[in-house]
Amino acid sequence: MTLSGKRAFVTGGGTGIGAAIALQLAEAGADVVITGRREEPLIETAAKSSKIAWHVMDASDETSIIDAMTAADDIDIMVANAGIADTSPVAKITMDHWRKVFATNVEGVMVCTREAVRQMVPRGWGRIIIVSSVAGLKGAPYIGAYSASKHAVLGLMKSAADETMTKGVTVNAICPAYVLTELVQKGIDNIVEKTGVTAEEATQQLANVNPFKRLIETDEVAAAAMWLCGPGSGAITGQAIPVSGGQV
Ligand SMILES: NC(=O)c1ccc[n+]([C@@H]2O[C@H](COP(=O)([O-])OP(=O)(O)OC[C@H]3O[C@@H](n4cnc5c(N)ncnc54)[C@H](OP(=O)(O)O)[C@@H]3O)[C@@H](O)[C@H]2O)c1
Repeated sequence: MTLSGKRAFVTGGGTGIGAAIALQLAEAGADVVITGRREEPLIETAAKSSKIAWHVMDASDETSIIDAMTAADDIDIMVANAGIADTSPVAKITMDHWRKVFATNVEGVMVCTREAVRQMVPRGWGRIIIVSSVAGLKGAPYIGAYSASKHAVLGLMKSAADETMTKGVTVNAICPAYVLTELVQKGIDNIVEKTGVTAEEATQQLANVNPFKRLIETDEVAAAAMWLCGPGSGAITGQAIPVSGGQV
């Protein structure tokens, strides 16, 4: 596959799933801009490919997203991946917790999607990929706000897909199961702290949720994103695609 000449924008592209997607896009020849709040992981990932540039951006801030997307200019591939996974039992959810999760996971994704549609539709080609989660397809204990946010972006994705269906733009979501990234490492640290098990045991607990009895690899999630950008992908739109080992 070649994506030579295509311009991609990956939020949260300095680490984890976003970095894997950015590197695979760059390897296929796309010019990629990765964004995040911290410079260090952006610099580290960009150093791995001459096709990757970086821009500091806060995905919970509309102006910051618009500034970064304007600087990137004429984006062909939008990967709205940045997200946070703060946890709380439903009975203890505060408004601050709820709003913080929604600001990045829903409002940020909405702005990225809206601005991408504005840029792509007039040019008649575009690929918008939202990184949701298996938690966007089913709930689980302690992730009420996170799960709600990941369900919410699927509604946005389906509406955006309906609006762009005949305009050369596709809008889809990828729904990974547990992948070992900074985000899941925090969850593992939390299990260790609260239950006293070892990090290996906590990791295996998460792996055991999956029928494969292992965590999903970042490159497996990136491969799904690449497929949505590649030849023959124009008829796939409005879909929430699990990369979950059959978990959902
Ligand atoms: N790992 C999993 O098991 C899993 C499963 C399903 C779905 N997901 C989803 O996959 C996506 C990527 O997560 P990951 O697992 O790769 O974890 P990660 O390595 O922690 O990546 C999250 C990225 O989002 C960025 N980010 C977070 N808040 C941001 C903000 N306000 N503004 C800009 N960037 C922000 C972070 O960069 P900065 O901190 O530098 O801003 C970081 O690069 C998330 O949407 C997550 O919900 C993950």
